[in-house]
Amino acid sequence: MTATDALRDAPERALRSLFMGLSHRRSLGRLATRVPITRPMVGRFVAGETLPEVLDALERLREGGYGTTVDVLGESVSSAEACSAAAGRYEETLAALAGRGLERNVSLKLTQMGLDISEQICRETVARVMRAAVEVGAFVRIDMEDHTKTDRTLRLWRELRSVNPETGVVIQAALRRSAADVDALIAEGARVRLCKGAYNEPASVAFRERDAVDAAYESLARSLMREGVHPALATHDGRLIGRLLRFAEAEGIAPDRYEFQMLYGVRRDLQAELLRRGQHVRVYVPYGTEWYPYFMRRLAEKPANVAFLLRSLLKEGRRPAA
Ligand code: FDA
Repeated sequence: MTATDALRDAPERALRSLFMGLSHRRSLGRLATRVPITRPMVGRFVAGETLPEVLDALERLREGGYGTTVDVLGESVSSAEACSAAAGRYEETLAALAGRGLERNVSLKLTQMGLDISEQICRETVARVMRAAVEVGAFVRIDMEDHTKTDRTLRLWRELRSVNPETGVVIQAALRRSAADVDALIAEGARVRLCKGAYNEPASVAFRERDAVDAAYESLARSLMREGVHPALATHDGRLIGRLLRFAEAEGIAPDRYEFQMLYGVRRDLQAELLRRGQHVRVYVPYGTEWYPYFMRRLAEKPANVAFLLRSLLKEGRRPAA
């Protein structure tokens, strides 16, 4: 990394660390979810707090030509009751998707299913969701959390494939280990979603410079597009997407062999442009009351989001009391 690169990335990294740190502060999360002033900003990234709200959002996206995957928000649960409640919310969501004739595709986090408590509880809880998914023919993607959970996530995912073969995992380009993981997953015929990585990881395990992460992403994406099973290219990075589209064209890889994935509310212009160009785009649609850590990660990803939030907070503060 050059000194110029380090200087360019430094403020962004500091901001990212700050917001990632805040994302773990449960007391702040409890406060933020009770205070209504953050709601308009949260509403940009979260489709609603209730099931009827997310179903309406999914319907609108379907009408627009988008694929969808639903995330019932929640993570880092610390009791067996909370795991069971999370599994129940997924069961309810899967039944509602089937009932409304919407696409049956969900994403979940293992710490929401008890990974921090024990692998056994987590396995049983996810198996319950997988069985509900099998009943309605749904695809289940296991999201990837920070690097301390990568091995356990891949292990549990491999075990749970026997319950529901319609399942996939996520690989983070930022992690140094990911090239080896991608090779193994290609050999297993796994359905991989490739993302850059949302967590603030140490340099010992992850590339910290933007250019290094982007280069790793492009290389892994090329391998997955050439040899993987319907990879999901999860990024909003227009330049990277442009390079991958040129690669697909040069290699004769048709758009039905892969898909792009983007987060609800992020780069809607790019989502629409890709659709217009005949690409498949799936939107990751989170809903639920436990939006705080997810929201903080979205702030950490883009400094402009923080400025926007601060401006709306200040505006709200100046308003005369009703
Ligand atoms: P990058 O951060 O370079 O952003 C490129 C451009 O996209 C920015 O310049 C900006 O215009 C826009 N952008 C990006 N983030 C934005 C935001 N929050 N608000 C507004 N604009 C934004 N991570 C993980 O660790 N585990 C996981 O399981 C997943 N799952 C996942 C699913 C899907 C469908 C997506 C799209 C992403 C994830 N991620 C994830 C998150 C991912 O790792 C990454 O943090 C974000 O996608 C941001 O990285 P980009 O690839 O968009 O590039």
